[in-house]
Amino acid sequence: MPAIVASIVSLKGGVGKTTTTANIAAVAADTYGLRVMIGDADPQGHLSDWFGIKRSPGMGFAELLNPPDSGRIDVRAALQQPDPEVPLWVLPTSYLEMEDVEVKLSTVPELGGIWSMSRAIQPLLNDFDLILLDTRPTLGNLTSAAVCASNVVLPITEPRLPSLQSTLAAVAKAERIREKQNASLVVGGWLLNKWGDHEEADKVKGELQRREVPVFQPAIYTGEYIPKAYIWGNPAVWQFPNNRGAHQDYKPLVGGILTSFGLVAA
Ligand SMILES: Nc1ncnc2c1ncn2[C@@H]1O[C@H](COP(=O)(O)OP(=O)(O)OP(=O)(O)O)[C@@H](O)[C@H]1O
Ligand SMILES: [Mg+2]
Repeated sequence: MPAIVASIVSLKGGVGKTTTTANIAAVAADTYGLRVMIGDADPQGHLSDWFGIKRSPGMGFAELLNPPDSGRIDVRAALQQPDPEVPLWVLPTSYLEMEDVEVKLSTVPELGGIWSMSRAIQPLLNDFDLILLDTRPTLGNLTSAAVCASNVVLPITEPRLPSLQSTLAAVAKAERIREKQNASLVVGGWLLNKWGDHEEADKVKGELQRREVPVFQPAIYTGEYIPKAYIWGNPAVWQFPNNRGAHQDYKPLVGGILTSFGLVAA
């Protein structure tokens, strides 16, 4: 079966798209043994940082999307495996070159526009079970191309009403892409991150219930250990494997996501 491709989306910055992508990928690969590839489609490059990946010049996501004059690069050669014992590979960003690609996807038709990312990862579909694409907090060309390359989008919000609105905007964009380009795209369950027990969180949950959208459980609560892991270049589930939060929150969350994708048995 070809890989399930999922992109994590919200128009709101800082809701935890990248951190959650990193931890989901880490658990999917090491606990569930799936072959996982994560693509860093954000010029900020934090997904690459989470795994301590150092950029190889000329060998990142931007060069795949916008091949150099010397010719196409082999997507497999651009992948980096942070831990030789874990079946997880990272397609690192290319920082400023990725920002150039954001613009060129509109202005240079040969790059394939909204289909560019789909084309770039196509050779990998049979090598992996799961491909996760981390998107930037915009609904521009790179995010659209990631959604167009996906089977599923996973909306993510924190318990703040503006974040909910911005994530709903990303879902609306995905639905438009489904209508026009990618008819089989599914809007998957929502991810709740930086959660807390307060009135605004209840309002966000109430609004999601009112809209009858599926929500993955459990919510990931705000935990100091989560951002702390970044300085070691490891997602929290690897850096603090015995932490109560890492086990109690991420592992069942990932189990539910993988079950919904048909990648693990219910
Ligand atoms: N559950 C959590 N508890 C505590 N801190 C968190 C949690 N999730 C994410 N963070 C922290 O919040 C900050 C923003 O998270 P992250 O970079 O993942 O957000 P993002 O949505 O990817 O941001 P951007 O929109 O800029 O790409 C980071 O420092 C991250 O470690
Ligand atoms: Mg991010």
